[in-house]
Amino acid sequence: MSNGIRRIAISTGGGDAPGLNAVIRAVVIAASNRDWECYGIRDGYNGILFPERYPEGGVFRLTRDRVRGIGHLGGTILGTTNKGNPLCFPMKMPDGSVREVDRTDEIVECFARKELDALVSVGGDGSLTIANALHQKGLRVVGVPKTIDNDLDKTYTTFGFDTAVSFATECLDRLHSTAESHQRVIVVEMMGRYAGWIALHSGIAGSAHAILIPEIPFDLEQVAAKVRARDQVGRMYSLVVVAEGATPANGRHAVLEQAGAGHAERLGGIGEWVAKSLQEITGKDTRVVVLGHLLRGGSPTSFDRLAALRFGAAAVRALEEGRSGVMVALALPNVNYVPLEEVAGRMKAVPLDCDTLLTGRDLGICFGD
Ligand code: F6P
Repeated sequence: MSNGIRRIAISTGGGDAPGLNAVIRAVVIAASNRDWECYGIRDGYNGILFPERYPEGGVFRLTRDRVRGIGHLGGTILGTTNKGNPLCFPMKMPDGSVREVDRTDEIVECFARKELDALVSVGGDGSLTIANALHQKGLRVVGVPKTIDNDLDKTYTTFGFDTAVSFATECLDRLHSTAESHQRVIVVEMMGRYAGWIALHSGIAGSAHAILIPEIPFDLEQVAAKVRARDQVGRMYSLVVVAEGATPANGRHAVLEQAGAGHAERLGGIGEWVAKSLQEITGKDTRVVVLGHLLRGGSPTSFDRLAALRFGAAAVRALEEGRSGVMVALALPNVNYVPLEEVAGRMKAVPLDCDTLLTGRDLGICFGD
């Protein structure tokens, strides 16, 4: 039973996350074991939309040999992009203006022309929204949930998140001793977009004293009070974790670059603001560390590697079973499939009553409220 499938393609889209290569490896091997051919699309869908950029082929054959030894490597051998969403692709018009154009028909046509029977789309909410649109246009599509931010709904977790949290926790472990030696406040800004998952999990695991996340608008006076309270009992240093999307109760989130044609707004800068303000309020020497893209690099943890391999193999099984328009999800202890339309365009924020957050409160961590 292969439901008429002989040739499938894989695309990786959005920001890279550790585990992408493990998904690709699992898809290629599971497909080869069914005598299906597998193809990789370069840089999201750019390999299809801009074939002229890829003299060696924007859509190229992925053999078993090509994916040998890549499961533990960060990044993606296909390349990726978080610019130029094909649903609203920025195109220069003859009059010089830029208009957003839906180019998904070109992708569907390319699949027909190249006799590709199905797509495995590996990505976050943006990529899965595109995948859902392609499915609605008749393409057979299975999605795989990727993002370090863990902000995708309907899956226990995304691959990439555990690696980001592990690295962030190690960074916090290292910062305790230098902060304590200098009696400083160190503010650590972490990625995560509009959700506080990375900051919350690593902040608790790494024993931060305050954690500021987008889900809880913060009052800096509360953080300063925490720093002072620690000083009063002889704990002369503090670590403050700030998610890049965290917002002061009376302000807005910090933006490095406004949204433009074909790309979302770029968050960042809140750590610097929190550090400067805390220094002013408390009079303590304060430093800021921005973990930024370091959170996206490196080898996937064994948890992420295994999740990625399971997702990739499950995507191939889904196609074999005739499924389409679904995302593979982690529903511990197994994987299951959820309709893409239940995932596309929805963000999973940290629930205010989740036990991880309550654990932080029980441990006396300040959340700025
Ligand atoms: O979604 C992953 C992510 O790393 C976010 O945490 C962050 O806001 C964004 O991507 C950064 O994107 P870029 O790679 O364009 O700087």
